[in-house]
Amino acid sequence: MNLSKQNAPTNITNIEKELDEKDFIISKTDTKGKIIYCNEIFAKMVGYSTADLMGANHNLIRHPNMPKVAFKLAWDLIKNKKEFFGFVKNLCSDGSYYWVFTCITADLDTNGNIISYTSVRRKASKSAIDTIVPIYKLLLDNEKKGGVESSLESLNNFLYENQTTYDEFILSLQSNTKV
Ligand SMILES: Cc1cc2nc3c(=O)[nH]c(=O)nc-3n(C[C@H](O)[C@H](O)[C@H](O)COP(=O)(O)O)c2cc1C
Repeated sequence: MNLSKQNAPTNITNIEKELDEKDFIISKTDTKGKIIYCNEIFAKMVGYSTADLMGANHNLIRHPNMPKVAFKLAWDLIKNKKEFFGFVKNLCSDGSYYWVFTCITADLDTNGNIISYTSVRRKASKSAIDTIVPIYKLLLDNEKKGGVESSLESLNNFLYENQTTYDEFILSLQSNTKV
C-alpha cells in the first residue's frame, strides 16, 4: 500500500507514547520528503509497517499541533546543507502522539549535490516539552490569524527578547536537562 496524508488518522487522541531513552528513530527521505528508509523503531512508534512507509510523504505523521514555521525553518536550513535541530510532536497511526528531539541533515554526493535527507531523533526531555508546548501553541495561533510570516515574526521576537538564537535555545532545552 502507498500511504498518503489521506491515510493519517482523524481520531487524534491525547495518548502519549514514549520513546525509550536508549533508542534512536531514524528515517531518510528523497529530496522531496518521501520516505526511502526508516529503522524498525520508527515503524513501531508510528504504527505502520516499514513496507507501507516506503514512498510515503513524511507529512503522513505530521501532528496538527505542530506549527508550520518549524518545518519552514527545517526545510530552509537543510536545503542549504545546514543542520536543523528541533522538537517535533508526531502523529501515530492510532491517533496517539510522541515527542522527539530531532536533527535533520542533507546527504551529499561526491560533487556536493543533495541526494537525500536523514533525520535522527531521540527522546525529548520532559522539561523541554513543557517549555516548547506553549511556544508552539502561540506560533500555531499566530499562523491561524496571520499565516506563517506572522509566526516567524513572533518566534524571532521571542528569541530577540530572550537574547538568544534558535539553535542556542533549542539545544539548551535538550542538553540542560535530564531526559
Ligand atoms: C528527513 C526528514 C525527516 C522528517 N521528519 C518529520 C517528522 O518526523 N515529522 C513531521 O511532521 N515532519 C517531518 N519532516 C518534514 C516533512 O517533510 C513536512 O515538511 C512536514 O511534515 C509538514 O508537512 P506539510 O507542510 O505538508 O503539512 C521531515 C522531513 C525530512 C526531510
